[in-house]
Order: sequence, then structure tokens, then C-alpha cells
Amino acid sequence: MTIAEDLPPEHEYDGTLARYYDAYFTGLDGEAEFYTNLAVASSGPVLELGCGTGRTLIPIAEAGSQISGLERSGSMLDRARQRIGILAPDVGARVDLHSGDMRSFDLGRHFDLITLPYRTFQHLLTVDDQHRALDCICRHLAPGGRVALNVYDPLMDISRLLTNPTDPEPATDAEFTDGEGHRVRARYLRGYDPANQWMVQHFWFDQLEGKQTVETLQARLTLRYAFRFEMEHLLSRHGLRVVSLAGGFGGEAYEGWGEQVWVAAQT
Ligand SMILES: C[S@@+](CC[C@H](N)C(=O)[O-])C[C@H]1O[C@@H](n2cnc3c(N)ncnc32)[C@H](O)[C@@H]1O
Repeated sequence: MTIAEDLPPEHEYDGTLARYYDAYFTGLDGEAEFYTNLAVASSGPVLELGCGTGRTLIPIAEAGSQISGLERSGSMLDRARQRIGILAPDVGARVDLHSGDMRSFDLGRHFDLITLPYRTFQHLLTVDDQHRALDCICRHLAPGGRVALNVYDPLMDISRLLTNPTDPEPATDAEFTDGEGHRVRARYLRGYDPANQWMVQHFWFDQLEGKQTVETLQARLTLRYAFRFEMEHLLSRHGLRVVSLAGGFGGEAYEGWGEQVWVAAQT
């Protein structure tokens, strides 16, 4: 068994998670369409921070927008490059990829829309990290440009665990076929570090032959959660005006927990 417990957060996506990302992390309902529609509606180039393997970046390029992707993990970026390399030439030509950290980047140009899909903002694990990333975002926004992101607020999940603690046992979350044709069972367990507002997700990937597990790879993701008015304060501290907050990608009302889908504009 490969243990990922001592992996620093900067390397959580390298290796195991990059290997299974496209097959297992398939996104949230309506998410890719939501970001694509915003990109199409915006008049100029788009930047995606933490673009990963291109899951949401590729549909935006296919819809006709010019899009840049910034990504910290070399393994994720390699996969994105492979996927973009086989797109139609006119689509591939609309994409440029950059290795970098969303807390300290300078692409030397401005964007009409900056996106952080699939809870990427939650990889900013401290308030200082959040401010540094928002500083960079604001420096890269064109006048009137917008930033769109979603974060998950696990209030109800934490309340449930506090009032009804159970023995932590990883539960089977999904079974899928990986890129090499292997059958894989994913098991998952979520824990909390409330003092830091961290949600720690543990993953076990059992590679199966028939019903037998022949190998198990382990991975972990550490995410910082944020509450509604914390997000609103963060955005306003950086001169960003809230355009909309929804509880889902179909414009559902935000009810105080769960997904927060934010669009904010430079004032
Ligand atoms: C949840 S994945 C989202 C990937 C892609 N946007 C998608 O929707 O599938 C988060 C991505 O952000 C990247 N990431 C995390 N922290 C980062 C940082 N400080 N700078 C740049 N990328 C980062 C991770 O390596 C990972 O690929």
C-alpha cells in the first residue's frame, strides 16, 4: 500500500490523484456549463486558476473563448497538455498553459474573466494564502472584469458528525475504469480540523482483478472551508463587488450551507 499521509499539500495532486483524476473527479452538476456560459458571455480572454487536467478549460476553448490555464501540479499539467494536444488545431490554439502558483503569478496581461472551478479556492489553506491569491487575481482582471468560483461550506456535515459521531470507516464511493482499462474501487473518508477550518479528504483506490484487490493507492486532499460572510468580506477587502451568490450552478438560492457559487466584479 502506498501511504500519502506525509505528502505536503503542495504535492497532493501529484501521482495517485493525477492518475485517477479524470475518471473519478467528474465535477459537480451543471458546473462546466456554468463556467462555459460565463466565458462565452464575457468579451475577452479567460484565465482558469488551478486548471488541473483541463476538465473545465477544454469546453471553454471548444465554445470559442481564448483561455489561459495556470496549474501548480506538474502531473496534472502533463495530463492537460496531452488532452489539449489531441484537440482540433483551432481549439488547441485558443489555449495556453502555465506552470505556476495562484498565490504568486504574473502573466503580464489582463483577463475579462478569472475562474476557479471545482472548489479550487479551498486549496488556499490560510487567510494569508487567500489574500495573496486575491491580490494576484485583482492585478490580472481587466477593468470591470469578473471572478467566478465555488466553495463548499460543510456546516451541516460538521453538525451531523458532532451530534452523532460514528467510527470513521472509509465507505465505497465509486467504481470506475481508469485510463489504462483497470477496474478501480474508490473508498473515501472525510475528517475535519475545525480550528484551521480544514476539511481533510482521504482516498483509497483499490485496483481490482475480479473481486480481488491487487493494489491499493492512497491519496489525501486538504481543503479550507469558508462561510458566506467570510467570503463576502474577503472579496470586498480586495475591491470585488458581489454580482451573485447561488447555492448551485442552476442559480438555486443559497440556503446557508453547501455549495456557494460566487461571481464578483472589479469595482
Ligand atoms: C479540484 S482541482 C480542479 C481542477 C480543474 N479546475 C477542474 O475543474 O477539474 C484543483 C486544482 O488546483 C490546483 N492547485 C491547488 N493549489 C494551487 C495553487 N496554489 N496554484 C495553482 N494551482 C493550484 C491543483 O493542483 C488542482 O489541479
